[in-house]
Amino acid sequence: MTPAPAGPAPRARWSLRRRLVAVVLGLVLLVSVVMGTVSTVALRDSLVAQVDDRAVAAAERALRATQVGPDDGRDRQGADDRGRPGDRPRPLAVPGQDVGTVSVVVEDGTTRAQYLDTDGDLVDLDDAQVAALRAVPPDGTAHPVPLDGLGRYRAVALLTDRDDLVVTALPTTTVDATVRQYVVIEVLLVAGALLVAGLGGSVLVRRELRPLNRVAATATRVAEQPLARGEVAITARVDDRDTDPSTEVGQVGAALNRMLGHVDQALAQRQESESQVRRFVADASHELRTPLASIRGYTELVRRSPEELPADARAALARVEAEATRMSALVDDLLLLARLDAGRPLERAPVDLAALAVDAVADAHVAGPDHVWRLDLPGQADAGAPDDEVGALTVLGDDHRLRQVLGNLTSNARRHTPAGTHVTVAVRRDGADVVVSVTDDGPGVPPELRDRLFERFARGDESRNRASGSTGLGLAIARAVVTAHGGSLTCESAPGRTSFVVRVPAAADVGR
Ligand SMILES: Nc1ncnc2c1ncn2[C@@H]1O[C@H](COP(=O)(O)OP(=O)(O)O)[C@@H](O)[C@H]1O
Ligand SMILES: [Mg+2]
Repeated sequence: MTPAPAGPAPRARWSLRRRLVAVVLGLVLLVSVVMGTVSTVALRDSLVAQVDDRAVAAAERALRATQVGPDDGRDRQGADDRGRPGDRPRPLAVPGQDVGTVSVVVEDGTTRAQYLDTDGDLVDLDDAQVAALRAVPPDGTAHPVPLDGLGRYRAVALLTDRDDLVVTALPTTTVDATVRQYVVIEVLLVAGALLVAGLGGSVLVRRELRPLNRVAATATRVAEQPLARGEVAITARVDDRDTDPSTEVGQVGAALNRMLGHVDQALAQRQESESQVRRFVADASHELRTPLASIRGYTELVRRSPEELPADARAALARVEAEATRMSALVDDLLLLARLDAGRPLERAPVDLAALAVDAVADAHVAGPDHVWRLDLPGQADAGAPDDEVGALTVLGDDHRLRQVLGNLTSNARRHTPAGTHVTVAVRRDGADVVVSVTDDGPGVPPELRDRLFERFARGDESRNRASGSTGLGLAIARAVVTAHGGSLTCESAPGRTSFVVRVPAAADVGR
């Protein structure tokens, strides 16, 4: 046998409305069944008790009729009738006996068993019926006896003073019919009650829960709002009519409103402190630029002065100048990032990314003559390519910033790969986007860096040690610039193939 599944199968939960209505229906049904059962039993018992009373009365009449023995009979009737059992007083013939009454008289070993049919005629009973009736204890109280073919009976047995047995029985057919009819009416009533309770309950619960749906809708509206970044305000609130604290739903609505107020306030504070930090970074970077420029200027001045400087002083000055230059670049990067963070609008002019790629590869050739640089433009292979093929590689944006992005990617491909590495800069149109990819066959991005490659100051250990001017800001800036153009920058890297892909919406599509 296969083992049973580990946990119970997840059961779909019923809605509150369904459960409330189900509970109401269940209660109505339970009460109806209990009441119906009790009243039916009581009715039946009382009807049977009446039949029993009548049966006892009939039995007593029958007994009296029987006890008018043959002798008394002779006195009353003619001598001709003596000794003929048929002439004996018949328990069923005495006045007052109902239609359906059954009588058995066992006298001197002979048994007479008859019942009174609807026409008033006497009909003989069969042996099985007689046997059932003779088994009734002669205690003068009514006992239930089912008679085959006649139905159910209440039978009373009595003994005459000569110890003859007289059994008289009355049918309970009318009782059964009454009870059956009563049950049918009850079932119909209960069905009606269930229908009314179900419909009424459903309508009522739906109406009562409607405010809850409105509260949920408010919560959903807020949940759909992008809250992660930027200037956000939560303006949605639960309607006043759903915030009445005297109702349960109103309490939920009021609590939700309070919570939304708190969250809104907290978001505003967060936003405020974030922009303070950004302003501080932007101001600080800006302030640092001027003194750095002075340091560089003065160093250069001293270095170029006619007086001969000692060799170590010359070396120290060169270091100061190099570090000051590096720091200027770093400060510029920080300032640019702070501005991009603040969402400063970029310039939006048509920029031909193919031309940018041509320039970037040309610069890279000069800066990294030990690498193998390739440019891959559409239509390059076949000289007769239509002009608009190149025109399709135009985007709307900031020429200077986009150059910076390509410069970052090509300088990464140069600085983080060994000499001899092949680097391909390709530009192509992909649907509504222009895609620029910078692909190298170098060792790839260090695995521990891959997840946070685009974070600020994320750089490989190697780059950190090499005094190569590596800051770890290049890719963060590149991504921020591309994102500000409505595009994306992604990286796929494995040893032997690393590809950075810039994707920016093409100009035609941007302009539309
Ligand atoms: N083409 C590449 N091949 C291998 N590693 C790279 C490549 N481009 C970037 N990296 C890794 O990503 C890090 C982050 O790059 P970047 O943000 O430009 O900072 P930086 O170049 O100043 O170190 C680099 O330090 C380097 O370890
Ligand atoms: Mg870089």
